[in-house]
Amino acid sequence: MGLTLSGSVAIEVAHLSKTYEGNVTAVEDITFQVAPGEVFGLLGPNGAGKTTTLRVLITVLRPSGGTARVLGLDVVEQATQVRQIIGYVPQERAIDRFLTGREHLQLLASLYHLPKDRAAARIDEVLRLVSLENKADEVARNYSGGMKRKLDIACGLIPDPKVLFMDEPTLGLDVQSRLKIWEHIRELKARGITIMVTTNYLDEADQLCDRIAIIDGGRVKAIGTPNELKSGLGGDVVTLTLAPGDLDKVEGLAQALKAQEGVRAVSANRNRLDIRVTSPEKTLPAILAQVGARQCRLEFVDYHRPRLDDVFLAHAGHRIQED
Ligand SMILES: Nc1ncnc2c1ncn2[C@@H]1O[C@H](COP(=O)(O)OP(=O)(O)OP(=O)(O)O)[C@@H](O)[C@H]1O
Ligand SMILES: [Mg+2]
Repeated sequence: MGLTLSGSVAIEVAHLSKTYEGNVTAVEDITFQVAPGEVFGLLGPNGAGKTTTLRVLITVLRPSGGTARVLGLDVVEQATQVRQIIGYVPQERAIDRFLTGREHLQLLASLYHLPKDRAAARIDEVLRLVSLENKADEVARNYSGGMKRKLDIACGLIPDPKVLFMDEPTLGLDVQSRLKIWEHIRELKARGITIMVTTNYLDEADQLCDRIAIIDGGRVKAIGTPNELKSGLGGDVVTLTLAPGDLDKVEGLAQALKAQEGVRAVSANRNRLDIRVTSPEKTLPAILAQVGARQCRLEFVDYHRPRLDDVFLAHAGHRIQED
């Protein structure tokens, strides 16, 4: 399963580290490879080091250690050539309120020194790609959040990149707009573009990305296809939510369950316990017996196949979004 990386590699990051001035180590010894045509996701919480990694890859940050290559080109030694083959959609949108969508794209096309006729054709093409044709001549100030994000993506596509880097492409968008952006990203993939996205949305990593690297505290915790990562947990998850008045019993129950046969791992967060089990049919009765023996009041029991949030918890030791 998974994509074999024999032959060529689109993005190759090896032992990459980045320490900012003031001694903040944002990224430490990160290694991963992205195959041509993949949608690869960096999944991690705020401050994990996603943007830092991306900014090294797009040649605007110098790594403190390790190497990174895009289509075989070194991002330090061959930065100019790297810039000629990549596109970038930043996390913070840089949209001017007074320009229309088309004017933004024209400005960028001139920055890339595209000849006028080629620029016009290219602009029409990218507008079509993100379904903004009908809004192209309105000032971007009047765009919705989703439309602004589409314009950001269109901007990243102007240089006709072979590799596109997108930093949190759907951050803060409503569900409909997010689904539309995913559609556009899939269309770019279908055109053979290699795409690397960062996200802290579990469902985005799960549904959009061919493979993901889970990153936390500047380190890669796990890499694989979403399915590989989920089945890699080897077992199912039982979640117990205790009555809020039983908070003081959580720790004792967690310890007791850890010793229980068939229980692989227990993680407690406030009045909630996530229990990874090898076989729920066998272990669930034993878990409930422990709950009864300790006179814990159960508010809710849930049993499910591993989801990506369970994968994140198992590898990072905490939830991606603490609730
Ligand atoms: N220019 C900088 N100078 C010093 N520290 C920085 C700088 N940029 C980022 N950092 C720190 O590096 C760490 C990683 O930041 P980074 O922006 O890469 O995280 P991120 O995963 O993109 O987070 P988010 O989801 O919030 O965008 C954080 O601790 C951050 O405070
Ligand atoms: Mg970021």
